[in-house]
Amino acid sequence: MIRYEWVWRPGAKALREIAGLYRAAGWWEPGDTPQRICRMVMGSHCFLLARERGRAVGMGRAISDKTNDGYIQDVFVSPKLRGRGVGAQIVRRLALRLRIDGLGWVGLIAVGGTRRFYEGLGFKKMPKHEPMRFGESASA
Ligand SMILES: CC(C)(COP(=O)(O)OP(=O)(O)OC[C@H]1O[C@@H](n2cnc3c(N)ncnc32)[C@H](O)[C@@H]1OP(=O)(O)O)[C@@H](O)C(=O)NCCC(=O)NCCS
Repeated sequence: MIRYEWVWRPGAKALREIAGLYRAAGWWEPGDTPQRICRMVMGSHCFLLARERGRAVGMGRAISDKTNDGYIQDVFVSPKLRGRGVGAQIVRRLALRLRIDGLGWVGLIAVGGTRRFYEGLGFKKMPKHEPMRFGESASA
């Protein structure tokens, strides 16, 4: 059974687990530290962990202005657990939380190959819009 847990102030164990998920996702950058992950979690609108038998197997978070606009990002499910609805649950819970907290605009940047996953959860491609990132290293 999968359990979903909001993380507001991660302790050392949760930080290790979250760092492990970022590493597994390939989103761990040189210079990242558990302290940095801690600031990312605590600076997020909300951060969700999925656990199977106590072990962290998935995550996702939202960032926002806490008033109108929210973005979902860093959605990841461990490869062995994929295809069992965990990713969908993470995104649904994040989007619902943002709505409950009054945010009317909820968006995300879908990594290539995930568009249908997000469409199945109610997201639509924004016509005439392109995702963009500032700076030289815009690969991710
Ligand atoms: C994308 C990801 C989060 C999906 O997680 P998951 O737990 O396997 O997804 P679910 O099992 O909840 O899938 C829900 C539905 O979406 C479909 N789906 C899942 N991944 C899909 C994909 N890449 N493309 C199209 N459909 C997909 C499933 O078949 C399922 O469809 P159904 O409701 O008709 O059965 C997971 O593959 C992952 O962690 N990928 C690597 C990280 C990543 O790319 N994250 C997205 C960042 S934008």
